[in-house]
Amino acid sequence: MAIEVTREPGIAIVTVNRPDALNAFNTELILEMTEQIKQLADDDSVRAVIITGAGDRAFIAGADIQEMSEKDHDGAVAFSRRGHKLCDAIESMPQPVIAAINGFALGGGCEIAIACDIRLAADHAKLGQPEVGLGIPPAWGGTQRLPRIVGIGRAKEIVFSGRHVGAAEAKEIGLVNAVHPASDLLDEAKKLARTFLEKGPNALAASKKLINRTMETSMATGNIHESKLFAEAFNGDEQREGMEAFLERRSPSFAATGESGDAG
Ligand code: COA
Repeated sequence: MAIEVTREPGIAIVTVNRPDALNAFNTELILEMTEQIKQLADDDSVRAVIITGAGDRAFIAGADIQEMSEKDHDGAVAFSRRGHKLCDAIESMPQPVIAAINGFALGGGCEIAIACDIRLAADHAKLGQPEVGLGIPPAWGGTQRLPRIVGIGRAKEIVFSGRHVGAAEAKEIGLVNAVHPASDLLDEAKKLARTFLEKGPNALAASKKLINRTMETSMATGNIHESKLFAEAFNGDEQREGMEAFLERRSPSFAATGESGDAG
């Protein structure tokens, strides 16, 4: 299996394991990863997910250029749609997803990283959308998610130039949340994931769902959704436990119930 899933209490670590090709994604990998992500999304024992790449050079160096070079128009449509499905599956899973970017995150690799909720980068990481240099535009959501994260002007410059954005600059422009020494990256990702485990999983999933929708809805519609999910929280156990624990000056104990469904 080129997608390895390991578990620690509450946390699933998904490692793309094709280091000889800098973890580049061919169709087989896209399908395998999409299936793994769907299984994790339905698993109540998983409260946070970390995605990373095998080896110390790359997170994911993009879609497999060898495979893409042989595609025609219809093959390209299918390849793009499969990439979209993978990125959408990551974005809409109810659990928080952290990209631990341990090297190159280029093309599809950058697109997978920006479908994650939070990005932590190793200090040697390089992100970018170099597709136009191959004669194609980004096709796994890069033209849509990147501007939402860094703004339209910066996204255009990054896509048009195809340049590599280093970790420090990526942090400065909000493309990654934090930069860590490469040797600490996975531990830092786990440390962050553990802070999510202490929270109400349904409240967290509802928050993710609401934030995911923010670019697609008006403020008025977004606020209506927010009130609805806020009120739904009062039908479950989490709200009672969270508030009772506060009032009793103890830590809350939340159990995953899977009430909130996906976060799309
Ligand atoms: N698709 C297929 N194979 C890839 C790949 C990709 N996206 N990225 C890297 N590889 C393979 C290389 O072909 C090479 O394989 P080989 O050893 O069998 O020749 C191996 O990974 C190592 O890459 P290499 O290019 O030799 O390493 P480098 O240090 O010189 O350069 C990169 C690293 C990431 C800058 C360079 O590999 C690169 O630009 N990759 C393509 C990035 C890209 O355009 N991604 C978007 C695709 S839409």
